[in-house]
Amino acid sequence: MEQKKIIEDADRYLMHTYSRFPLVLRKGRGMKVWGADGKEYLDFVGGIAVNVLGHCHPKVVVAVQKQAQRLLHVSNLFHIEPQIKLAKLLVTHSFADKVFFCNSGAEANEGAIKLARKYAKEYHGQNRYEIITALNSFHGRTLATVTATGQEKFQKGFEPLMPGFRYVPFNDIHALEAAITRETCAVMLEPIQGEGGVKIPSDDYLRRVRELCDKHELLLILDEVQTGMGRTGKLFAYEHYGITPDIVTLAKGLGGGVPIGAVLATEKVASVFQPGSHASTFGGNPLACSAALATLETILEDGFILDHCNRMGIHFVEKLNQLKEYYQQIVEVRGKGLLVGMELTRDGMPIVKACLHKGILINCTGGNILRFLPPLIVEERDIDHLVEILDDLLGRAL
Ligand SMILES: Cc1ncc(COP(=O)(O)O)c(C=O)c1O
Repeated sequence: MEQKKIIEDADRYLMHTYSRFPLVLRKGRGMKVWGADGKEYLDFVGGIAVNVLGHCHPKVVVAVQKQAQRLLHVSNLFHIEPQIKLAKLLVTHSFADKVFFCNSGAEANEGAIKLARKYAKEYHGQNRYEIITALNSFHGRTLATVTATGQEKFQKGFEPLMPGFRYVPFNDIHALEAAITRETCAVMLEPIQGEGGVKIPSDDYLRRVRELCDKHELLLILDEVQTGMGRTGKLFAYEHYGITPDIVTLAKGLGGGVPIGAVLATEKVASVFQPGSHASTFGGNPLACSAALATLETILEDGFILDHCNRMGIHFVEKLNQLKEYYQQIVEVRGKGLLVGMELTRDGMPIVKACLHKGILINCTGGNILRFLPPLIVEERDIDHLVEILDDLLGRAL
């Protein structure tokens, strides 16, 4: 079908929940995707932090092919080998003792919220259910997770919201301390705010949050849906800050392009979930787990990908900071590994659209922050090419 007709049909048959670019994507390999127009694009969006190994990584493709021939789905009434192998690998390489699998980031956060509430009920009585989250955060679009999300623009029109959430400014330890009450059961944060514009907390923030949680017997839930799976140069972003959370949620990069989410928790916390407490028909399904297992094994293989991600991240931020010397419209460049943001004084969308014309996919969040989430296999030459294009575009009155 030609591109124009596909876009017309999309308009006609899909709910209009997304402002999509007028581009139909058909194929991807590594850093590149190809459109139905035959044009090649360098992908700095990476499925919004999903394609950590690039598009159609051979190890993920082969794992999916093999699993698809063997067994697609059987339900969680039975044991599934790839699910158990994946859980074991996640536990081996994290703080966690137990894993619950689901299908998306929002679903993982729903699971974490339920787990924290149930834990608090069992250990501290009926009245501890409130969760403190950060302003400007993003935790998903279900009713509980959109309530956890500290941004009114995502909540408007869906009221009444879920009771039991309270918001504080991110990276403000005093505000957090002041918000803790007898009802508080947990603090839920992204280690680095992604959708909120790549906001990186000060080095000691999460350590101090951990201390407050310990003092007040609160669970610390870290939403690593965007920062996990190597994105920031370590397998999990909490590793940068020398802390141990109680619960971590994952999704996006976990399946290397196949939908899967996970809730990771310590033994003590996880043990409040018993048969019947929580479930998901597709959660941890053989196909998704095989893809995630291949993705995680590849990331962990000899540490090459994480090293590479760190080196590319440093190079990327350096190059963008060189641009900042020339253009006053660049307010700040922020990055950890390959979660990189460039805040502008102006609307970023014209730059995103112009990049698309030049064959590069980038993202803009919050109206004025260009966000770059390339596959972790991005090369220096790809970054240099993007920065050249940005240099050209920022020099023009777009
Ligand atoms: C930090 C964070 N949490 C949760 C979500 C929601 O994930 P999903 O869209 O898979 O439900 C996102 C998505 O952007 C995210 O960035």
